[in-house]
Amino acid sequence: MEYINIKFDFFDYIDNVPCDIFIRLSSGKTLKLFSANEAKDVDRIKAYQEKGLKEFYIQKDDFYKHSKTFFNEDVIEKALEITPTVIADQYLAVIQEMTSDIGIDETTLKTAVRLEEEILKQSSSEKVVKGLFDRFAKQQGNFLYSHSYLTAVMCLQFAKKMDWGTKEIQKKLYMAAIFHDLGYQNPRSVFYENSDLDGLEKLPEKVRVDILNHVPVIIERLKKMKNIPEDVINIIKYHHGGLGEQSYPLKMHATELALLPCVFILCHEFVKNLFKVSFRKDKIPEALSKTINKYNSGKFKSLTSPFIDVVTEMGDL
Ligand SMILES: [Fe+2]
Ligand SMILES: [Fe+2]
Repeated sequence: MEYINIKFDFFDYIDNVPCDIFIRLSSGKTLKLFSANEAKDVDRIKAYQEKGLKEFYIQKDDFYKHSKTFFNEDVIEKALEITPTVIADQYLAVIQEMTSDIGIDETTLKTAVRLEEEILKQSSSEKVVKGLFDRFAKQQGNFLYSHSYLTAVMCLQFAKKMDWGTKEIQKKLYMAAIFHDLGYQNPRSVFYENSDLDGLEKLPEKVRVDILNHVPVIIERLKKMKNIPEDVINIIKYHHGGLGEQSYPLKMHATELALLPCVFILCHEFVKNLFKVSFRKDKIPEALSKTINKYNSGKFKSLTSPFIDVVTEMGDL
């Protein structure tokens, strides 16, 4: 059984226990703390927190089913005890904290701001580009926003250290990361994005269709726009590729992918794995090894060792 850990703090923001919840004892044994739908028992939680436990575990399937409960904007709002009018600023502060948790340089964050300004300047004749950035900004508070932004800065952090990572390449990776999931009808479907096709089969049809369509929808849109580099389109087109038969929508094998889609896929997967370990520093190696073990052929092969170096240096591991 595969488990995903979540900080105990999240109990503060839920009223009912949505799924089976486990804890791991120092002996390594897993113990069920609550059964699904059981009433939240604050004393029981407190007792384990006092013993020094910092996180609980839920099963992988439950994570996808209930991530809305654990990671939605209401949770963040309640967590910060703020009103919706100030949520945007506070939310950005939460994301900044995540970037510093994993050691992303402040200069990288500044690079992101500068690149976005440059992209907007270069495409000032194309209002739709600005429209897409605006649409992205409206997603603040959603997982769509947080995982895309973090993928963008992770791509920059990686590219900056590589000889292929010129400013033009950084710009393309940034643009692709910000736009890659804007094809969703319902931004909440992004929670259920589960890189392999078998995983999608188990989802409700509406969600599955949204996931399968989000790539062609955004690609159609970008193709109609001037000034969108071919590389950006290709990164987005193949962002769920690399797993062959299990990839969608194009079932691309790792060996068929060019370098930039591989760079993007690695950073995207790493960020999603960081969410699964609540951005805990001691769990970064786990998130890293899961990522590189999943993508290890074709052009991914040449990226593995530099990616490990960059994450290791970044997180001071
Ligand atoms: Fe996606
Ligand atoms: Fe994504």
